[in-house]
Amino acid sequence: MAKKSSKSKDAAMPAADMGGVAINIGIGADDRGAITEGLSRLLADTYTLYLTTHNFHWNVTGPMFNTLHQMFMTQYTELWNAVDPIAERIRSLGHTAPGSYAAFSQLASVPDVPTTPPKALEMVRILVDGHEAVARTARGIFPTADKAGDEPTADLLTQRLTVHEQTAWMLRSMLQT
Ligand SMILES: [Fe+2]
Repeated sequence: MAKKSSKSKDAAMPAADMGGVAINIGIGADDRGAITEGLSRLLADTYTLYLTTHNFHWNVTGPMFNTLHQMFMTQYTELWNAVDPIAERIRSLGHTAPGSYAAFSQLASVPDVPTTPPKALEMVRILVDGHEAVARTARGIFPTADKAGDEPTADLLTQRLTVHEQTAWMLRSMLQT
């Protein structure tokens, strides 16, 4: 795990931003680098899923319009509010937070929004996949955060997992016949 800090060489990964001031919070540079690598992917996934959900809020059609239009608004608002604490945790670990479409497209495991708006239930299916994908990304960071004794990151991951798994369940329930 310790070797992962060299990932900052990746074009999408921001370099450490020490600004000449040493960080001494009890988490080593290698661990902070490895956790940042994971959080950067979580940030990209969360932002991409936010944009997809907002797009679906705009473009949903059909007899379920009112329900889905409102539900997508609740969901994109939650996702929008989530990107800030993830980015700021990266800053607290001494790294710069990625925040461009170019970086996010390289880091995200969630696919970009479809060019043509899908049918309403297909939107729901895409969002189930998206929330499950973000949950997998968040879960994958746990062992590194745990090993490094990074409780604030573990706490953030727990909160994000709770939301993504619950939202995936609610969306999945809409697809049941
Ligand atoms: Fe709106």
